[in-house]
Amino acid sequence: MTDHQATPAAAAVPAARGAAAGGAAPAAPMVVVDGVHRTFGSGERAVHALRGASFEVARGSLTALKGRSGSGKTTLLNLVGGLDAPSGGTVTVDGTDLAGLDEAGLLALRRDRIGFVFQSFGLIPVLTAAENVGVPMRMRGVPAKEREERARTLLALVGLAEHAEQRPGELSGGQQQRVAVARALANEPALIIADEPTGQLDSETGRSIMQLLRAVARSEGVTVLVATHDPVLLELADEVVELRDGRIAGPHPDGDRAARGVRPPDA
Ligand SMILES: Nc1ncnc2c1ncn2[C@@H]1O[C@H](COP(=O)(O)OP(=O)(O)OP(=O)(O)O)[C@@H](O)[C@H]1O
Ligand SMILES: [Mg+2]
Repeated sequence: MTDHQATPAAAAVPAARGAAAGGAAPAAPMVVVDGVHRTFGSGERAVHALRGASFEVARGSLTALKGRSGSGKTTLLNLVGGLDAPSGGTVTVDGTDLAGLDEAGLLALRRDRIGFVFQSFGLIPVLTAAENVGVPMRMRGVPAKEREERARTLLALVGLAEHAEQRPGELSGGQQQRVAVARALANEPALIIADEPTGQLDSETGRSIMQLLRAVARSEGVTVLVATHDPVLLELADEVVELRDGRIAGPHPDGDRAARGVRPPDA
């Protein structure tokens, strides 16, 4: 069901890099996943969720991760988000090798440089939309007034200026996910990670959320990495990478490194 042949929009990637680099040398990728393995359990019961996945996410791009259920998308996003550690290989985010961070370092990375958007929205039911957007800023110690102002600016950005005082239960699914996108932007992250953010929405609403992610990638200069099954949404991505059997599927017989423009092992 995920055999949609999405070709990477190759032209968009150099453009994004060029813009980020100000026209000089190409900017380093926002995310580099290099030879990553993740094995759950051990012995006969071991599950090899990732078996040497390698790919890059260009700065400023909206990159979609596709692959059938169980192919390792969530596992990979968790590694990039510093929520889990690989069994082998390296994950670099915004120039930082995550293996070099301790728990406090990972916490700071997740709080200050990454915004998360989940399929189930993950809003706090008793808080208003504006308060939900303010939560990451609270964790960072931003003063109340500044928090409120930024929450309102972000809610306006996602088209919810009129809904700031409503609680999640008083909002539609699409509106709740817009609040979640605003919340993900709260601390001006370098990277937004979204795991099937449209999975609980009808196709039209899902498309509008994907368009919103694309718009914020442009307007806020944030890089977006999104896992999705939906072929329509894949068309909105600058680049599509596909997970198959725990590796990145590529059109080249010599594997995903060459296909993704990652340096060859011997170079
Ligand atoms: N904590 C865990 N313990 C054991 N196995 C796990 C764990 N997390 C994931 N797995 C296994 O790793 C494989 C990849 O799972 P993952 O959730 O990454 O897939 P996915 O591509 O996100 O699937 P879906 O599209 O259904 O969300 C699966 O076989 C899954 O059962
Ligand atoms: Mg998943």
